[in-house]
Parts: sequence; structure tokens; C-alpha cells
Amino acid sequence: MEGEERIREAMGPRWRHVPVKALKETDSTNLRLKEAARAGRISPPFLLTADCQTAGRGRLGRQFVSPAGTGLYMSLLLPPIKDQGPGVTFLAAVAVCRALEEETGVRPWIKWVNDLFVQGKKVCGILAEGISEGIIVGIGVNLRTPPGGFPPEAGLAGALDTEADRFSLAGRIAAHLLSAAETPEDAAWLNEYRERMFLTGQRVRYTVNGAEKEGLVRGVAPDGGLLVSDEAGESTLKSGEVTLGSQSVGDLLYRQPQ
Ligand code: BTN
Repeated sequence: MEGEERIREAMGPRWRHVPVKALKETDSTNLRLKEAARAGRISPPFLLTADCQTAGRGRLGRQFVSPAGTGLYMSLLLPPIKDQGPGVTFLAAVAVCRALEEETGVRPWIKWVNDLFVQGKKVCGILAEGISEGIIVGIGVNLRTPPGGFPPEAGLAGALDTEADRFSLAGRIAAHLLSAAETPEDAAWLNEYRERMFLTGQRVRYTVNGAEKEGLVRGVAPDGGLLVSDEAGESTLKSGEVTLGSQSVGDLLYRQPQ
């Protein structure tokens, strides 16, 4: 079976009508969908995957390392979602966790906002971008370690080191996310996100209005913000980077029961 057929097969009968394109190489699947949607060449829902990206994009303007034969790089164009819940990023994190568990048997942890960790390594990143035609959810999963390893700028990146089929994984992720996007206001999504989010109860460092702070994570608010408390009281972080205060993500996750 060709890649596109394998993706459709994994999406199941409910979503088999969704147009799917599997490319060998592109600059960025997010960028390709954005241009195609803006030019009116595609409309939601639409799924694009690539075996390799030459200009993979991450959050906060970072690069997402996307070499051939080692990962799944996909973007799903969804219709606009009325923002009643924490947002599509939260749905996507849960959708990828579910699909990875089904496909590999491995249970990933979510690090707020939308990084997925396995055994102390970041194995998946998610970049959601809103445009007037819809929402593009870009997902990169590191399936195998690239020859020579990940470059230093990839930080805590690591791979699942699995032989999982990337087309089948793409189909499963898309199916879970399409289902989630039908009922974004359903509290079950946020509850599952909270169960999978490992920062709750941990001391973390973060920046508010340029000031470095340290506090205790209390949980995730209904709008998706991170609830933290420090000597000044309770506050809700809306975005940004959070790092663990006294120990690395790796140490913490290695010690947590899987
Ligand atoms: C992050 O960890 O900062 C988010 C990374 C998102 C990467 C994916 S790979 C597929 C899609 N296309 C891109 O250019 N980026 C996203």
C-alpha cells in the first residue's frame, strides 16, 4: 500500500473522506498548508505529511529538526474552532498521546504547553497556527534518532526509537484530532490533558513581565493557563517557557512510574 492509502486506512471509515497528501520532502508542512488554504486551493479538513522538512518550524521562532527517514512531520488543516475551551493545542497533545500509545504501547507525558516527553526526552512538538480559513495544527514526532544524533540546538530532543509506521501513526493522530475538534468544549479533553501533564506539584522557573520567578505548579486552568503559586500569591501563566526549578525534566520523568 502507498503512504496515502496507509494513512486513510488508519484514519478509519469515519474520516476516510478527508483529503490526504504525503510528500517526500517539503520546506514546512505548516507553511505549505497555509499557502494552499490562503490561495483557495484547499479547504478544511486537509492532511499533509512529509518524510523530511528542509525548514521545519517550531514554537517561538525556533527550527524543528526534520531529517528524512527518522520522523513524522504532519499538518492538519481544521475548520475554525469556537474558542470555548483551552484551545486546539491541548486537544492535539491528547490526540497525539492516544495515537502514540495505540501505535507503540509507549505512554508519553505532556509538558505544558504542548511538548511530549518519553523517558526524559522530547519526542514530539506541536505548533498550531490560526489563519482566517481555519487552524493549522503542525505535529512533529521523532521516531528514530538521526544518524549522528540530534544537533545541540535541538535541546532535549530524543526519539522514540520505534519501528512504528509513520503513515499509520499519522492517520491515527488525525482521526483523534478530528474527533476532538468536533467537541472541543467537552471537559473530558482537558481532564485527560491534566492527567497526562507532569508539571503539576513541581517547582518551576518562569518569566512574568521580564522578571524571573520560581513557583509551584498547582494545575491547569479551564482556559489552559498554568496555575502557579509563589511568594506573591497565585497567578496564571498564559504562554511562554517553563523550566523545572531544581531538577531536569529528564531526572523527573525517569523517576515517574510509567
Ligand atoms: C515545537 O516543538 O516547537 C513545535 C514543533 C512543530 C513541528 C511540526 S513538524 C510538522 C509541522 N511543520 C512545521 O514546520 N512545524 C510543524
